[in-house]
Amino acid sequence: MTEPRHIYLIGMRGSGKTVVGLQIARRLALPIADTDALIVARRGLSIADIFAAEGEQAFRDLEARVLAEISQPPPKVIATGGGIVLAEDNIALMRQRGLVFWLDAPPSVLWRRISGDPASAAQRPPLTDAATGEEELARLLAQRAPLYARAAHHRIDTAADSPETIADRIITLCRSAAPP
Ligand code: S3P
Repeated sequence: MTEPRHIYLIGMRGSGKTVVGLQIARRLALPIADTDALIVARRGLSIADIFAAEGEQAFRDLEARVLAEISQPPPKVIATGGGIVLAEDNIALMRQRGLVFWLDAPPSVLWRRISGDPASAAQRPPLTDAATGEEELARLLAQRAPLYARAAHHRIDTAADSPETIADRIITLCRSAAPP
């Protein structure tokens, strides 16, 4: 029998991974796992505090370990942190264990969503060096886009649609996917 696969959501901060993931999980009656949330629960520190106290590499190591653990069965919806694709091993693991969806949106849309969510921003390290948020975000997206593209089986444009509609599109793609 073919082992059912995980549904991985990747993309920049503000792309809607968590909210869309919750919709998919509810509709397919699957568990949801969120790498950021698991890291925070495990360390008992916010991600901003982990970055500040232990540095980004310590966070990335923990992120890779958490991803490997939750990539075991049973199948689930997995919302990842925006930097998950920075490690080649993470890309290979996700592609092997599931279907990978890149939730994408233009920098202006990402920036509008991020800056409208100050509570969440306080829990996470700033991704940008300066106060020129949208420009810095555009640069970061340009650097990461080739990685997201390589990791993903499907790119989903999230700029105009509701989380429900995006979840519908992903569920349809999962149902039409050929078995591995
Ligand atoms: C990061 C994104 C964050 C979190 C960490 C690093 C990144 O997750 O993993 O702050 O490098 O893009 P979200 O994409 O859920 O904000």
